Amino acid sequence: MRTLMEMHDVQASYGHAQALFGVSFDIRAGEVVTLLGRNGMGRSTTVKCLFGMLPLKSGAISFGGRPLAGLASHGIARLGLGLVPEGREIFTNLTVEENLVATARAPRHAQASLKPWDLARVYQFFPRLQERRANLGWQLSGGEQQMLAIGRALMTNPQLLVLDEATEGLAPIIRTEIWNALAALKAEGLAQIVIDKNVGALLKLADRHFVLEKGRVVWQGSSDALRAEPAIVQQYMGVS
Ligand SMILES: Nc1ncnc2c1ncn2[C@@H]1O[C@H](COP(=O)(O)OP(=O)(O)O)[C@@H](O)[C@H]1O
Ligand SMILES: [Mg+2]
Repeated sequence: MRTLMEMHDVQASYGHAQALFGVSFDIRAGEVVTLLGRNGMGRSTTVKCLFGMLPLKSGAISFGGRPLAGLASHGIARLGLGLVPEGREIFTNLTVEENLVATARAPRHAQASLKPWDLARVYQFFPRLQERRANLGWQLSGGEQQMLAIGRALMTNPQLLVLDEATEGLAPIIRTEIWNALAALKAEGLAQIVIDKNVGALLKLADRHFVLEKGRVVWQGSSDALRAEPAIVQQYMGVS
């Protein structure tokens, strides 16, 4: 399958503190890949670089064969990248429906193979959001806020959805709902980069995995390869 996004040897810093020391990974159309690692290893920083929210010190990123260098965040998003950010970051003083409409964007030609998203389809996908459509963001439960964050990203009709700790802090039953939603999105061909601590769920959902340690990719491989090497999970994700 064709390569959708490719990150090559990216280095990035916060002021003088370097966080990424040469991160390379890629994702193909329709694929789900993960960024694994303990807290502070550079997963969110990698996402910030991809979305143009942190400048690269060196390295390159391309999306759909197009270099992203020089593009601002909104320009990158417009190419078809949808972000479900760490901490959700929904508009707490807007209603559910206002949150969804605020980010709506018509599908691009390149997404012709993906079924388009609009308000009706997001409500069909997450019926809870329809029930809560007139509620303000701050009135929602954590799980509802997470569904809203995902629904809002879907309203941009992305070709690639990036989820940073989307099940963090949620009750197990809501987590299961989120995992089922991501599996349904994969089944219809939506490529996803997923960051999460739940390796069991990721092994089922994802095709390939990239393990980050102190700003470097130290292991990569398929779900089968990761299942065959449980020591990798213990070493790089176990509580130290
Ligand atoms: N806004 C920031 N300012 C300064 N340092 C940061 C900032 N965000 C993250 N870092 C540092 O960058 C490194 C990678 O963090 P991050 O990418 O957020 O890790 P992860 O998402 O894997 O938990 C850590 O050392 C963290 O302390
Ligand atoms: Mg993070």
